Amino acid sequence: MSPASIIAIDGPAASGKSTLAQRLAQRLGYLLVDTGAMYRAVTLAVLRRGIPVEDEAAVSELAQRVQIDLRPPTVADGRSYDVLLDGEDVTWAIRTPEVDANVSQVSAYPGVREAMTVRQREIGKRGQVVMVGRDIGTVVLPEAELKIYLDASVEERARRRYEERRERGEEVTYEAVLQAMRERDRFDSTRQHAPLLAAEDAVVLDSTGLSVEEVVERAMALVVREERRAAHSHEGDD
Ligand code: DC
Repeated sequence: MSPASIIAIDGPAASGKSTLAQRLAQRLGYLLVDTGAMYRAVTLAVLRRGIPVEDEAAVSELAQRVQIDLRPPTVADGRSYDVLLDGEDVTWAIRTPEVDANVSQVSAYPGVREAMTVRQREIGKRGQVVMVGRDIGTVVLPEAELKIYLDASVEERARRRYEERRERGEEVTYEAVLQAMRERDRFDSTRQHAPLLAAEDAVVLDSTGLSVEEVVERAMALVVREERRAAHSHEGDD
């Protein structure tokens, strides 16, 4: 019995989807692809070059040109993968408030999305992958055998993000994080191209009030259910 070969996990910021994807990938021995990190890396490249984020043509052109790679972690500092931008390790540099503040706009440009989507499909088609983002089940890999849409209340998501930031020693207030989270949600869900949306055939999991372990167990139960379903449909093949 082989488990679902492509697992798509979508959901809003700080819903816990990256942690879930990482844990599933670990358990199944699959490659983890965090597509948000790819959009963040493009945003960082834009900011570093001093390109105005409003300049859609220049931003899109840069997105086609930069080399972004995700690979298993080579440094034991709490990361679950390395992010490389033109060969440079930018794993933490893509997590700054400045990137946070600009990534929604950069990722809304169709030219940027197209460049990233092509790369994501190439990786996804090889199989044995857990891909996490906003539009994986709807646009990037609609053929994924298992699609999970992980949600949580905006207050809980803001609290998680706030705690992460405090742990990293940043000076932030909960109110500011909540406000930024609401804005990003609105932007990501109302944009014209590939808005944040649960695929029709996605299983919606609400992680509000659940521990990481509980979310992982529920998701693993879905993986097992998908395995059984696939095994049954194969039985009918002969
Ligand atoms: O998951 P994250 O917060 O690292 O994502 C950063 C941004 O990238 C987020 O504002 C939405 C965007 N994004 C996207 O548009 N499509 C994806 N598949 C993943 C992320």
